[in-house]
Amino acid sequence: MKSKASARVNALIGREQEIAKIRSCLRAGKNVLLEGPVGVGKTFLAIESIRELGRPSFRVDGDNRYSEQKLTGWFDPPLAIKKGFHKDAFIPGPLVEAMKAGGVLFINELNRLPEGVQNVLLPAIDERIVSVPRLGEITAKPGFLVIATQNPKEFVATSHLSEAILDRFELIVLNYQSEKDEQGIVTGAVVRSKMSFKPGIQQKLVEAAVSLIRLTRSHPRVRRGASIRAALSVADIAAVLMQDGLVFESAFLSAALMALPTRIEIEREADAENTMHEELEELVHEWVAVVLKKKT
Ligand SMILES: Nc1ncnc2c1ncn2[C@@H]1O[C@H](COP(=O)(O)OP(=O)(O)O)[C@@H](O)[C@H]1O
Ligand SMILES: [Mg+2]
Repeated sequence: MKSKASARVNALIGREQEIAKIRSCLRAGKNVLLEGPVGVGKTFLAIESIRELGRPSFRVDGDNRYSEQKLTGWFDPPLAIKKGFHKDAFIPGPLVEAMKAGGVLFINELNRLPEGVQNVLLPAIDERIVSVPRLGEITAKPGFLVIATQNPKEFVATSHLSEAILDRFELIVLNYQSEKDEQGIVTGAVVRSKMSFKPGIQQKLVEAAVSLIRLTRSHPRVRRGASIRAALSVADIAAVLMQDGLVFESAFLSAALMALPTRIEIEREADAENTMHEELEELVHEWVAVVLKKKT
């Protein structure tokens, strides 16, 4: 287990309480829904928990064109012509595979699935049965569970889950991690990138990148602040720029100007004359100045 953990791309930092909660739910045979803003670590934590559980798992990535057939399975046309609508011609989808294996169905971004597809899950979860047209009913082996993630409903491009679906899940809410944990995540990524730094610069970069994203979250004009992904990008890009000869401050500012604007959403000023992009750039300059003054 230890050697496996160290060979992983990303080691889990913190989240002890959340992992403990997920573990209890899964041991109690309950389905888990992880909810939190973009980049808070939902997908990562779900995958970690499934890995820990050590059971077969099957993944669905929710999007609004996902179909019921894709979830349950479909008949391969050439095989169906040869064999008829027989189970040998049936290509199981992730739901049927997870049910047959008594495994875990991981639905990433559940609320992006069309409602009709979400509804297929109800009998699968309640009666542990799914019925496939022309094939019949498939019953889940013991151990079948669902772990899902979703963004809170105020995020764009997400729909609200029905009460019926919500009633089948235990909710675990994820918030942004502590400054120390966020620094740990960025340090891990920087170390894995195998970039070389002058003495003290690696730590300075990690601290500045994390301070920067945390500043964006508390700014009055920001509707949606930056997640850890933005800090990871700032650190990675700044490291490359420093390798190319830029001094720390210039590298950090350039990286921030590339990494932040796509990841934050601001409230426009009522009488705004600047474009959205100019406003964002101005804010990034402001934040970088604050962070660098604090750090040097
Ligand atoms: N606790 C953590 N420990 C280590 N890395 C993490 C942790 N939480 C998030 N990350 C990293 O942060 C990034 C964003 O996480 P992700 O799970 O994709 O977010 P979400 O699904 O909530 O949008 C990923 O690169 C992930 O590896
Ligand atoms: Mg995700």
